[in-house]
Amino acid sequence: QTNHITLDPGYGNTGSCESGITFIDGDKGILRYRGIPIEEFADSPSFIEVAMLLINGTLPTAEEYASFSADLTRFANIDEGMKYHFQGFPRAAPPMAILSAMINALSCFYPELHELEDEQQFRQASARLISKVRTIAAYAYRHSKGLPYMYPHPAMRYVPNFLHMMFSQPYEQYVCPEIVSKALNLILILHADHEQNCSTSTVRMVGSSGANLFASCAAGVCALWGPLHGGANVEVLNMLEQIHQGNITPEEYVKLAKDKDSKVRLMGFGHRVYKNFDPRAQMLQKIAQELVPVLNRNDPLLDIARRLEEIALSDPYFVDRKLYPNVDFYSGIILRAMGIPTNMFTVIFAIGRLPGWIAHWWEQHQAPGSRIARPRQIYTGTTNAHYLPMEERN
Ligand code: SDX
Repeated sequence: QTNHITLDPGYGNTGSCESGITFIDGDKGILRYRGIPIEEFADSPSFIEVAMLLINGTLPTAEEYASFSADLTRFANIDEGMKYHFQGFPRAAPPMAILSAMINALSCFYPELHELEDEQQFRQASARLISKVRTIAAYAYRHSKGLPYMYPHPAMRYVPNFLHMMFSQPYEQYVCPEIVSKALNLILILHADHEQNCSTSTVRMVGSSGANLFASCAAGVCALWGPLHGGANVEVLNMLEQIHQGNITPEEYVKLAKDKDSKVRLMGFGHRVYKNFDPRAQMLQKIAQELVPVLNRNDPLLDIARRLEEIALSDPYFVDRKLYPNVDFYSGIILRAMGIPTNMFTVIFAIGRLPGWIAHWWEQHQAPGSRIARPRQIYTGTTNAHYLPMEERN
């Protein structure tokens, strides 16, 4: 069952495409990865297992999983030369700027992966990207703090290894609590793909020109950065902090979000497709309720978030417009409880979404009859104008 909108694998002139990776029913709040309902991953042990499902189309066997995991370990380091790029960024550089730049820079070290003609090459490029995106993200954080880089640990699993590179010190290794590893795995799973969202459509659009996988994913990072898209999880925390600081009450904030002139939106609310509920938000709310009291006992932001949700969901403005919490409403609170800094929230979203981007890029790359994306427009500009010499212009 796929969303047949038009029979065009690559956004011909219609601005939409056919895909068999992720299915969404916005009215029923259904989200399925390769046909599997998102709820069935609630106890999934591994983000990597779901990444392989999205990319390969089927859940991996134990042997396939072990082989891909070995590649992720093998590919975890980045070329020492890339460290000079980090040094060139100001400490306060937005990590999403660094991530996009460094994914592009990464492709320069693997020119053989610019032309992916067979499955083997594609698998290797995918493993390199999925493994190294953690290292790049962690190094961006370490650079922002003036901390030494922590090399990936060969014996650690994907998520604990990322947190090790983020938080370990030369004198003390960060030990990832199982509850954190499980929660962050699930957060990455819930972000792994979402059909033709803005950033995934960007990856497909850029990839349709023949741009390599790395360049296409670097473009996806830029699209995800926007506050209306992946950047919303940061804006949600800013919103909750404003209320927590006492600058405004939840009631006043909701009132402001209803006032068009205020240009304020209830961040983490609303969705172009979900017009009932976002199943991911429901699962993330549950994680937040279980995890935050354990990790960050007195975090008032969770109560503020719940109060905002309660007010909005009883307000006709939001109910009539079918505005419900989306994936970004609770994710930031959970990441904050894990000690992840706010400016890394969207980077975590990008790490999660990367397998989806890779899967879509390859689906389109492989699709028979795939063409360069070339949406059309309705022209609303001046017609029949003529050139005037400078002296005749006023
Ligand atoms: C993600 O596409 C995806 O799948 C994205 C994503 C993914 O996994 O890739 O799900 C991830 O991007 C989630 C969305 C994160 N963004 C936010 O939380 C930002 C706040 N939300 C909004 O800006 C908005 O709801 C969007 C961007 C999510 C959706 O925008 P739409 O579909 O274009 O909705 P709209 O702007 O046309 O709004 C429709 C009406 C308008 O009012 P009216 O003109 O009808 O009177 O609803 C209002 C809007 O003003 N509205 C809001 C609102 N969202 C919509 N009013 C207040 N607060 C909000 N959050």
